[in-house]
Amino acid sequence: MLSCLLIEGEEKMDAPYSQKVMEHFQNPRNVGEIENPDGIGHVGNPVCGDIMELYIKVENNIIVDAKFKTFGCGAAIATSSMVTELVKGKTVDEALKISNRAVAEALGGLPRIKMHCSILAEQALRSAIDDYLKKSKKV
Ligand code: FES
Repeated sequence: MLSCLLIEGEEKMDAPYSQKVMEHFQNPRNVGEIENPDGIGHVGNPVCGDIMELYIKVENNIIVDAKFKTFGCGAAIATSSMVTELVKGKTVDEALKISNRAVAEALGGLPRIKMHCSILAEQALRSAIDDYLKKSKKV
């Protein structure tokens, strides 16, 4: 599944996708929107054009639900799926510490040229949490 754009100056694919990446790409978890979300993150990568939206529901400072809609490559879909799985049950502070590397590691790794897709997932989560904090007037 090497259908993503090649970005000028980047090296060729240096490793195949892990089984876990393929599994999350083919059966993504938590696809869709949350009705009346507490936070919405909306991010995009201007180079490849991929777009990610992430919705969170927060109760008593715990992220109880997360969903996503991603228009993007297979790795963007897999990292969106994984970040929504990782974030559920975490406090807001714990969720802010979820890094793109943690998302990639949970997927069994990503080829180097696809690491930017995991950065989009991290940014979408942070954007949703920022939105939640603004709405709840905590920033
Ligand atoms: S190629 Fe754009 S996020 Fe994967």
